[in-house]
Amino acid sequence: MTLRVAILISGGGSNMEALVRSMQGDHPARPVLVLSNVPGAGGLARARALGVRTATVDHRAFGGDRTAFEAELQRHLERARAHILCTAGFMRILTPGFVDRWAGRMLNIHPSLLPRYRGLDTHARAIAAGDAEAGCSVHLVTAELDAGPVLGQARVAIRPDDTPESLAARVLGHEHRLYPRVLREFSERLAREGAAGRP
Ligand code: GAR
Repeated sequence: MTLRVAILISGGGSNMEALVRSMQGDHPARPVLVLSNVPGAGGLARARALGVRTATVDHRAFGGDRTAFEAELQRHLERARAHILCTAGFMRILTPGFVDRWAGRMLNIHPSLLPRYRGLDTHARAIAAGDAEAGCSVHLVTAELDAGPVLGQARVAIRPDDTPESLAARVLGHEHRLYPRVLREFSERLAREGAAGRP
């Protein structure tokens, strides 16, 4: 059976594009929906250009009611019959209720070598700490922010003249290779286990 992947974005969607482009040929999964919480996010046009269906659920329309916002996300995901959910530059914190529904099926990419630097400003924090290397991690999403089991990492040397911007750009190139590799491995395992029955 083909696994159906939905991708949540908030911005430019370069990781989304890398994931979508990777799901071809003998890949066990296919992209079925790109969902943004930001109307007009750059990644939406990018997804449409790649032939992937898109939808927007603007969190601001829910006036801080996160449960109602997430219920609407869930409605789109169920309509798309998604088995796997990938967050890719999705900048909202999801509640434990939503995360639990996707337990073991939701992946995220984070721009640090977890468990170091959960949250924001990861590259600036790595440089300020004098770290020799930075990187990115793909992990399963659990209720605690950026704390789920790590499925794969890529390491990048920090140069003496790096700024947070130059480091972010170099790490992003690695993200585009890491996330597709981990999604493929994850999908292959799920397909083998034949456990594709949700939501
Ligand atoms: C990526 O660097 C991703 O790791 C990061 O946002 C960027 C999104 O870029 N995610 C987070 O910081 C999540 N906490 P993209 O929209 O071009 O994929």
